[in-house]
Amino acid sequence: MYGPEEILRAKEAIARRISLEPPIAVVLGSGLGALANGLDEAVAIPYDELPFWPHSTAPGHAGRLVVGRLSGIPLLAMQGRVHLYEGYSARDVVFPLRVLAALGVRTYVATNASGGVNLAYRPGDLVLVEDHINLMGDNPLVGTNEETWGVRFPDMTEAYSPRLIKAAEKAAASEGIWLKRGVYVGFKGPSFETPAEIRMARILGGDLVGMSTIPEVIAANHLGLEVIAISCVANFAAGMTKNRLTHEEVLEEMGKASDRLIRLVRAFLREIAETHV
Ligand code: HPA
Repeated sequence: MYGPEEILRAKEAIARRISLEPPIAVVLGSGLGALANGLDEAVAIPYDELPFWPHSTAPGHAGRLVVGRLSGIPLLAMQGRVHLYEGYSARDVVFPLRVLAALGVRTYVATNASGGVNLAYRPGDLVLVEDHINLMGDNPLVGTNEETWGVRFPDMTEAYSPRLIKAAEKAAASEGIWLKRGVYVGFKGPSFETPAEIRMARILGGDLVGMSTIPEVIAANHLGLEVIAISCVANFAAGMTKNRLTHEEVLEEMGKASDRLIRLVRAFLREIAETHV
């Protein structure tokens, strides 16, 4: 179990190797790592060179931190994240996020792959998460509260920043990219959901299902960071078609969408660099 001391040590290990202090971090989900390859003045640090850092084992997740500039804007990109289904607790999963916050990050941009639950969604759709339902059975804030990080009972009314959502919609419009909004339902995985679970998610008001992001969003809100999450629909959720679900299909669809997502993130960063940060 880590605390402020371990966070500080990981922070110092990164700070020694970088000269920029980016106020924004982007976390790249399954198959989206390509965004970090386009950074200028990039410094890449493999996760296994960082103390206490959890290692990702999921295929499609490179496992390194890349610091550089995207369209001139200083940015910290995480290529790969860890998940609850890898055996980590929600508290472990958010260790990197807490280190990034200690490094000065104030805006957290999450990307992920998801299954489309909403009947109007199609694979390849980009969806701004406007709220979530946590069915993951864990919360990163369980345990003694670290008062220097945040309050015991953080408010989650605007867990996904309305002003960042507006900025992303403006950026998307300028790029001619169609964006939807939706509610993300988090399951622990690693098995895909059953058709009955997908029907339940829909009845509960969910539009997307996935196995990530929620722990980090909770911890980011606890720390007072501003959050946006962009989900790429990789597949129709279980039971919606006759097809069986595979991770290969998810990666293939993300590969097809990644250029569009990268264009969106670039335009979004330009938008908030001018108006917000
Ligand atoms: N379910 C959960 N996670 C996912 C899915 C899905 O259908 N597709 C991509 N990530």
